[in-house]
Amino acid sequence: MKNTLLCLLVILFSLNGINAQERPAWATETKEEKEKRMAWWTNDRLGMFIHWGLYSLPARHEWLQYNEKMSGVDYKKYFDHFNPDLYEPKEWAAKAKESGMKYVVITTRHHDGFCLWDSKYTDYKVTNTPYGKDLIKPMVDAFRAEGIRVGFYYSLIDWNHPHFAFDHIHPPTPIDPVEREKENAKRDMNIYRQYMKNQLRELLTEFGRIDELFMDFSYSNEGGKGHEDWDSEGLIKLVRELQPHIIIDNRMGMDHTDWGWDFVTPEQFMPQEWPTVRGERAPWETCQTFSGSWGYYRDEYSWKSVHQLVVMLVETVSKGGNLLLNVGPTARGVFDKRANERLEGIGRWMKFHDRSIYGCTQAPDDFKTPPNCLMTYNPTTKRLYIHVLEWPFKSLHLPGFRGKFNYAQLLNDGSEIRFRTQTQEGSHVTETSKEDDVILSLPVERPDVELPVIELFLE
Ligand code: GLC
Repeated sequence: MKNTLLCLLVILFSLNGINAQERPAWATETKEEKEKRMAWWTNDRLGMFIHWGLYSLPARHEWLQYNEKMSGVDYKKYFDHFNPDLYEPKEWAAKAKESGMKYVVITTRHHDGFCLWDSKYTDYKVTNTPYGKDLIKPMVDAFRAEGIRVGFYYSLIDWNHPHFAFDHIHPPTPIDPVEREKENAKRDMNIYRQYMKNQLRELLTEFGRIDELFMDFSYSNEGGKGHEDWDSEGLIKLVRELQPHIIIDNRMGMDHTDWGWDFVTPEQFMPQEWPTVRGERAPWETCQTFSGSWGYYRDEYSWKSVHQLVVMLVETVSKGGNLLLNVGPTARGVFDKRANERLEGIGRWMKFHDRSIYGCTQAPDDFKTPPNCLMTYNPTTKRLYIHVLEWPFKSLHLPGFRGKFNYAQLLNDGSEIRFRTQTQEGSHVTETSKEDDVILSLPVERPDVELPVIELFLE
């Protein structure tokens, strides 16, 4: 009997994709507790990602060392010339604030291994470049002073560390696997794992409260490295000890557990619907670029327009997600003109429309999205936001909305929008609608904003 019960339990858990034995004793948080811990993040919706490092000098992708099969020796010229003399993090923070961003995630170290803070555990750090000063503390202080929460990005990959084992994405990557193995025999990943723990301890003890941790990334499916190589469990345990409230991404290869990650991270595409994990809607944050690469890329000409970015933000929230929008500062330490124009454009829109973003999520299933629109919903205030992608001529039909709301207004100026549920009769002006539909009477002129929004006060 006992055995049957045990078997049943094991089957139940493995059906769920989670092996009960893998949940360590310290991972005791309930679903409700997790929701509470993540409440600020679910509310804030819009953050700024910052990719900054040595790769800002070549200005042709943060992966250039790999893309161009560059040796560490050749890459060192960027270290020798790193000197962002115009770096003024207060300006960055002000821009983030003006564009409505509520949190920031900063690359403390990217795959090249270069550290933007004065780590005790390496010489490959900003304080040894011509710039000579820590970049992280002033950045953290500046953003906090604007009321913006601070998160850290930390690369699991390190192409510079002498004990990080070579694999197929390690520049300059010895092609011959035999040669690679010979090299790797001299490398000890235990030392690297300890190095990561030491650095995370620094990052999570020397800069005050850190709200998000973006670890990047696992690739065991491609014959690369995964959670065992990093000791993800050990890292998460340490991180949770140091900053119990912190929100962690899902790139440590812990997707098979329900305790080893907080949110999923689709990037560079728009999910078709709210992403699910084992059949349940998961918290998600999509990180997106302005122009394709994350690091500053001088000659990239695929910049998204302000309109595309605003729509991207709304579409993300309409599917219950967060948007982490990336800026790649230049080697001089500023946001370039193209980035500034986009941030300002988003800010112009947010100033009048942030009510349809903060605290909002996907609309309840019984509200059918009208054609050419995106909807978001605030469950606390019970308001529904209709974002009109293509401004129609006078009438917007809301399918099945009859009796569901009592007032409607344009969000940009709070002007009333009248509505009717009756078919309008007349010899040549007969406008029909289905019985349960509501017709909004829109002004002919489209409001002069990037994306017009109608606010409905639900019953
Ligand atoms: C990918 C890339 C990296 C970038 C990150 C942002 O993992 O390797 O360059 O930092 O995505 O999410």
